[in-house]
Amino acid sequence: MALAGKRVLLIVSGGIAAYKALELIRRLRERGASVRAVLTKGGAQFVTPLSLSALSEDKVYTDLFSLTDESEMGHIQLSRDADLVVVAPATADILARMAAGMADDLATTVLLATDKPVLAAPAMNVRMWEHPATQDNLDRLRRRGVRMVGPNEGPMACNEYGFGRMAEPEEILAAISRHFGRPAGALSGKRALVTSGPTHEPIDPVRYIANHSSGKQGHAIAAALAALGAETVLVTGPTAEPDPLDVRTVAVTTAVEMMAACRAALPADIAVCAAAVADWRVASRADEKIKKGEGGTPTLTLMENPDILASLSTGPDRPALVVGFAAETEQVVANARAKRERKGCDWILANDVSPETGTFGGDANRIYLIRADGQETWPEMSKTEVGQRLAEAIARSFQDAGDGVA
Ligand code: C5P
Repeated sequence: MALAGKRVLLIVSGGIAAYKALELIRRLRERGASVRAVLTKGGAQFVTPLSLSALSEDKVYTDLFSLTDESEMGHIQLSRDADLVVVAPATADILARMAAGMADDLATTVLLATDKPVLAAPAMNVRMWEHPATQDNLDRLRRRGVRMVGPNEGPMACNEYGFGRMAEPEEILAAISRHFGRPAGALSGKRALVTSGPTHEPIDPVRYIANHSSGKQGHAIAAALAALGAETVLVTGPTAEPDPLDVRTVAVTTAVEMMAACRAALPADIAVCAAAVADWRVASRADEKIKKGEGGTPTLTLMENPDILASLSTGPDRPALVVGFAAETEQVVANARAKRERKGCDWILANDVSPETGTFGGDANRIYLIRADGQETWPEMSKTEVGQRLAEAIARSFQDAGDGVA
């Protein structure tokens, strides 16, 4: 009974995935947790209060104003009378209302009033998920500490394919279990910092310089380190990748912000810099949109961005093991060796990102692991497998070094 005595307040909002909330309640209760449900008006279009109530064996709360009566449980009480608030499914609409701090129904009032951790399982159409408005709302919520589980990629009820399917009940259950107690693993007690994704360097309020990094590799590494028990912080530039389970994700936009977030995450035992950080930023970003035709074609003056990997490798709080990436298009191993020395990191994972390899944005990666004392060539494998293999190599290096310097 891993969750014995834990009290979960489950907010069910209006998406087709609401039916999975019923299964989630059943599984939470099987593990000893108690569940109290709040159903939004939209949620009630998909599941009935009766079914939620039957499974939770508790009253289901739906109406803000029926709770204002002193004889009823107040919404503040409802929000505080839980160890964890779970929003599943979390539609684009409820995420927007949470981000805006609205309190226009019982669910959002509870979310604004709560002082308890909040876990959300987003569920929506892929275009709604990818819309900048939704991504901005997710960034704001993550910055406030709301944890996300999913969404997953796959076919959707609306006949489209992509990210937006709600995480399965067992995945949400795993995230809840991890919230209440991290599983012991080979990296238990270790702190890890991972950078991921591209950075966006603004030119003016609407334009920016960026690159094709998807964040898949960095996110997979963070997930794999967390799965081995490391307390993991993922500092990520803008990406459509869902937050990995059991990882504290910090969303940033620019290289300068990424550097500040990495510094704030120290001390750490392990740092893996997988982000494709822009080498330059625009020296003076225009405050207003640069207009065509005024003063001819503009010239952008660039200035160098901080090198996060080099700074982590040589800084005062240097993690015991610092790992960098080398994305090369020629002389992959020779260039990576030189880079390892130049940056001062311990290991470099080198990969060939020539356009014909499909590595950037793709699912597979072919890696050369370069250390001071040798090199390994890994067979082509998925980015998830690269993450797992790297996490295992990191765990081994700490074991071999008797928990000292890797
Ligand atoms: O110098 P280059 O960009 O090829 O180095 C790649 C490695 O350095 C990657 O690990 C990347 O995350 C890291 N890097 C960084 N900060 C920068 C540039 C690169 O952390 N400004």
